[in-house]
Amino acid sequence: MTEVNGITRIEVGLGARAYEVRIGPGLIPGAGAQIAPLLARPFVAVLADAGAAAHHLAPLCDSLARAGIEAVVLELPPGEATKSWAGLARVVEWLLEARVERRDMVLALGGGVTGDLAGFAAAILRRGVRFVQLPTTLLAQVDSSVGGKTGINTPQGKNLVGAFHQPALVLADTDTLDTLPARELRAGYAEVVKYGALGDAAFFAWLEEAGPRLLAGDAALRARAVARSVEMKAGIVARDETETGERALLNLGHTFGHALEAACGYTGRLLHGEGVALGMGLALDLSARLGLCPPDAPARLRAHLRACGLPATLADLPGDLPPAEDLIALMAQDKKVEGGRLRLVLARDIGAAFVTGDVPPDDLRAVLAEALAAR
Ligand code: GLY
Repeated sequence: MTEVNGITRIEVGLGARAYEVRIGPGLIPGAGAQIAPLLARPFVAVLADAGAAAHHLAPLCDSLARAGIEAVVLELPPGEATKSWAGLARVVEWLLEARVERRDMVLALGGGVTGDLAGFAAAILRRGVRFVQLPTTLLAQVDSSVGGKTGINTPQGKNLVGAFHQPALVLADTDTLDTLPARELRAGYAEVVKYGALGDAAFFAWLEEAGPRLLAGDAALRARAVARSVEMKAGIVARDETETGERALLNLGHTFGHALEAACGYTGRLLHGEGVALGMGLALDLSARLGLCPPDAPARLRAHLRACGLPATLADLPGDLPPAEDLIALMAQDKKVEGGRLRLVLARDIGAAFVTGDVPPDDLRAVLAEALAAR
């Protein structure tokens, strides 16, 4: 990690496909100069979430124009529904009609939906064109824009079709976080907490102190939290790009969270990050029940989630939820099932997660039943 003129630079060390994640203020209004050296010709195709475009497209296009770069732009409807076969077809056909060539660059401006869809379109267009991620949500800055997972949803589930396709550059402009609705910012913050919980107890302790101020608007604390999260993710991705081992740690809380999201019908009732927050608590409950982690670890995690305005127990989730057996069936739909066995991320303590395929079904059922009964 280095810092140049107030911008943190973190390399994702993937040999010939290595790239930098640059983090700090003003990166979108300055994007043209950063992207120009990567281009084969002064032309880019921008895929922009319409919500993000309202705030950030004009500064981006001005900056590209100042750098002498011609830009064509397609705005995409916000929301998960855009990350579909139909959405992919529309984007790919638009890129072909815009005569995007094999050596051209696609720019993805928006959150995880835009980055995942644009990245997958770039992966398959003319058998692969390069792309730059310009993540405008906290969740995308600390997670989805880094590491090359791209894809779409299908009727069978989320992210079941996709490709590993690494970006050529990630510009995480932390000023964009000022434009996010408070709930979305908090939900993205759950992914920041995840990094502390999975592998850095000192970072978790720092977040316990800094988290509420960071969420209230402290820009320096935000940039520091994004940088440490990206640094951890970059290291994990460099060691295990295609998730044969360590990368699965990034799914802490996700298998429980995905089941809760599915139970809520992927509506605004539960945002992805909120599901991750609840899922991390349940993963620690299960770890404590199995005697793997200290009994007070789940309460410590939940105290921090609550202090940051995140849901911490299933009681914080309004409306009905299905019984434990149904949640387990939804967990079994997860991509992390191997040979019919559920693989879960559990923890020996906050900051010490591990992956296991050896989860006693009765204990899993008991943890979920207890959490549901406490609502
Ligand atoms: N979002 C988890 C990963 O990139 O592996």
